[in-house]
Amino acid sequence: MLERTLVLLKPDCIQRFQAGEVLARFERKGLQIVGLKMRQFEKSLLEKHYEAHKERPFFAGLVKFMGSGPAVAVAIEGKDAIEVVRKLMGKTNSRQAEPGTIRGDLAMSFSTNLVHGSDSPEAAARELKIFFPDANELVAWKPSNLNWTYAVEEELK
Ligand code: RTP
Ligand code: MG
Repeated sequence: MLERTLVLLKPDCIQRFQAGEVLARFERKGLQIVGLKMRQFEKSLLEKHYEAHKERPFFAGLVKFMGSGPAVAVAIEGKDAIEVVRKLMGKTNSRQAEPGTIRGDLAMSFSTNLVHGSDSPEAAARELKIFFPDANELVAWKPSNLNWTYAVEEELK
């Protein structure tokens, strides 16, 4: 299914000058950027984003880290984009993430792990709304070479 998902380039990604590298990996795969925003995000927004982890011991530290510097929110579109993005990211603990993945190639930490990606269609819809509250912040566009990325028309349904 054609999906949209939320990716965050976390503060460590920006501080380590890896934003271009990480974005390029999504683009090279054939995923489309349909929204892009750099901010030092507010605590209340980040708490809402990570509210599923509210009771976890790492919650306060996670929110603090995510607000400790600028981050980039990216809306990404593609067939099965949610799963594809998660696969490209690799395991949460970067030391266990497979080589070839973003975390596996570029990070060493469990918690400062460069990138976030929505983990389900429900999470994607919820999170995209948090980071891109106005519908017109997302740009619908069709690459002219789409039929070279996907073989047949059905693949885009
Ligand atoms: P994310 O939500 O950022 O895409 O990462 P994820 O799905 O791979 O991992 P998740 O379980 O949702 O955890 C969210 C983020 O919290 C930090 N974390 N720290 N110290 C810890 O035990 C711990 N556990 C999780 C990580 O930054 C993780 O990405
Ligand atoms: Mg998660």
